[in-house]
Amino acid sequence: MAVIAVGNTKGGSGKTTTAIALATAFAGNGLSVALLDGDPDGRAGEWFAVWAPATGYEPSITTDPKTEVILHPHTHKGITLVPNVDEDAMLDTVEQYSESHDLVLIDLQGSANQSMLLAFGHSDLVIIPVQSSRFDLKGMVKTVKTVRSAARSTRREIPHWVLLTRTSTTINQTRVDRYTRQQVIDLNLNIYTVELGHRTALQKMTHDGLPPNPVNKGEEGAAENIQVLMRETAAILQGKHPSMLAAAAASLAE
Ligand SMILES: Nc1ncnc2c1ncn2[C@@H]1O[C@H](COP(=O)(O)OP(=O)(O)O)[C@@H](O)[C@H]1O
Ligand SMILES: [Mg+2]
Repeated sequence: MAVIAVGNTKGGSGKTTTAIALATAFAGNGLSVALLDGDPDGRAGEWFAVWAPATGYEPSITTDPKTEVILHPHTHKGITLVPNVDEDAMLDTVEQYSESHDLVLIDLQGSANQSMLLAFGHSDLVIIPVQSSRFDLKGMVKTVKTVRSAARSTRREIPHWVLLTRTSTTINQTRVDRYTRQQVIDLNLNIYTVELGHRTALQKMTHDGLPPNPVNKGEEGAAENIQVLMRETAAILQGKHPSMLAAAAASLAE
């Protein structure tokens, strides 16, 4: 139903972290999610291969012995991980899974390529994660250009929102974080109110697979950030995708 691409031409900006966080949050609220691994490095698949066993499921995941990249789609707890979605497979895969799932989330590689253009052209929303650095801002500008090219070639608007990542989580935000937000606003770009602040719990997720859990000490902040990220995302897609709003409402009621 809804298709969201997570992209920034700059590597390390927080794309995979954002995609995983949203996949687990929406799946945790009852949506069926297809997580498309559009990065040849297969980081989303790598995460899935750790996460599934950590939640008590031993899938017969076949991985490439050299790269550890998952070779076939797997489903667990509402998330279907679709590996190796390269530019040749992008359109067919997005179309196929948007028919069978509530939400398709595409984790892209950090470069402006054909895959990115095709994914953006099929998306209801493009999320652009940006760290507080000049390099990430440059990547953001390049990514927005790619969104606009995809919008022109598909003759429609493609909503795109910037998400600040790895920002300081102290009450007095650093000047550089405020400066980055202002730069985005000055460019007239949409920006999420919530930030995926720099949290150990999000780094830990890459080791043990488990997303931040509000009952674990020290993980409350990260867990709350992710819930708000999910609700803001559902609100952006409002109207078009009522099941997402229902999921967001359910999370608020908890
Ligand atoms: N909000 C965050 N807090 C802590 N670490 C983060 C956060 N976002 C990303 N990271 C870490 O930064 C690195 C790059 O993030 P990743 O999501 O893999 O970026 P990308 O997919 O854009 O290359 C990873 O090691 C990840 O664990
Ligand atoms: Mg990545």
